[in-house]
Amino acid sequence: MMSLALFLATLLAVLGLAPGQVVRGTCPTVDTQPDFNITQYLGDWVEDRKFTTLFELGLTCVKANYALLDNGNIQVTNSGIRPFTRTQTIASAIATVPDPSEPGRLSISFDADRPSGSYLVLDTDYDNYSLVYSCQNFFGLFSAEFAWILKRSRGYQLTASQEAKLYSKLNKYNINPRRFVRVFEPFCSQR
Ligand SMILES: *[C@@H]1O[C@H](CO)[C@@H](O)[C@H](O)[C@H]1NC(C)=O
Ligand SMILES: *[C@@H]1O[C@H](CO)[C@@H](O)[C@H](O)[C@H]1NC(C)=O
Repeated sequence: MMSLALFLATLLAVLGLAPGQVVRGTCPTVDTQPDFNITQYLGDWVEDRKFTTLFELGLTCVKANYALLDNGNIQVTNSGIRPFTRTQTIASAIATVPDPSEPGRLSISFDADRPSGSYLVLDTDYDNYSLVYSCQNFFGLFSAEFAWILKRSRGYQLTASQEAKLYSKLNKYNINPRRFVRVFEPFCSQR
């Protein structure tokens, strides 16, 4: 008989998820940044730290760009460099705000054949850092979660008080900040 662990691993592989992402029964209910203003959020963001995923292993110098489309949706362009070939890889997506009363709760879709994911801005000051959370429920049984701290420029160092504020927010929702792995990429371009 297949063990539960093996069953889950197989299921996750089929769903395109990495085992490290599965953490809890169901997704926590989180509050996004009050009065989130997408206009101030547009432009480039790079990674400061993130929960790890297998699908991202190997990509370096990851950068996200958010641009406003005429219809109010957001054009998302994620780019990264493959380490051995040094070639750039780019993924495009569209983000929408399903409920205007909660503008920090975005839905992001990389291609029409896959379910869209959540992109929840928990806290940002727009100029330096952003704490982003994403969680997806599966069959009401378990969920996969992901978190990033993004920053505007690679040289930026989160202050101790910013880090304490963001971590306490995650702890409040029972999201474990110890799962963060710092991104250390001194050889990427600075923006
Ligand atoms: C969002 O920010 C932009 C740019 O600073 C500003 O022009 C706009 O009024 C803001 N929107 C709201 C709803 O506050
Ligand atoms: C955040 O960024 C702004 C604009 O670049 C800067 O003036 C400010 O000092 C930064 N805040 C912190 C805490 O680094």
